[in-house]
Amino acid sequence: MTLEFSTSDPDATGRAGALLGPLLVPGDVVALAGDLGAGKTRLVKGVAHGLGVDGPVTSPTFNLLVVHPGTLPLYHFDLYRLEHEAELEDIGFYETIEGDGASFVEWGDRFPASLPADRLLVVVHRAGDQERRFELVPSGRRAGDLAAAWLAAVREDGAPR
Ligand SMILES: Nc1ncnc2c1ncn2[C@@H]1O[C@H](COP(=O)(O)OP(=O)(O)O)[C@@H](O)[C@H]1O
Ligand SMILES: [Mg+2]
Repeated sequence: MTLEFSTSDPDATGRAGALLGPLLVPGDVVALAGDLGAGKTRLVKGVAHGLGVDGPVTSPTFNLLVVHPGTLPLYHFDLYRLEHEAELEDIGFYETIEGDGASFVEWGDRFPASLPADRLLVVVHRAGDQERRFELVPSGRRAGDLAAAWLAAVREDGAPR
């Protein structure tokens, strides 16, 4: 079965992210794949909203990691500019993702070996000017449960699919 949903504009993507926020528990890792401008950051902004994060959520492209305090900490990584996997140690990647928050890793598919065995990969496809398709590829039991719960919430919310 394919796990996926679509959104028809950036706000719908934000709403989908906001529905994921409350489902997250410490140690959850969500890797985000998709071209520049696909909507990875837009989704994480929605997640931040769903976690009650105050203030702007900007892309961590230049600093690789931005931490947002919320109902649980949101660790927002962007590995676009990371050249070597070894640099992940320098930014505390491995300790952080095992920590007390939920981690979102843009371009996480660039370094798949660095991701924990149990993680949810979200592949964002551009399906039209404003239409995006979100494909959920869970690895492991927790990620499978998270994907199913998120999809159910999105469908209940009535987002187009
Ligand atoms: N359905 C949609 N969901 C998310 N973003 C969309 C959508 N339709 C258009 N967009 C636009 O696409 C861009 C997505 O940017 P961003 O989230 O920063 O992408 P990424 O982080 O994948 O590079 C934004 O300019 C946003 O307004
Ligand atoms: Mg981005």
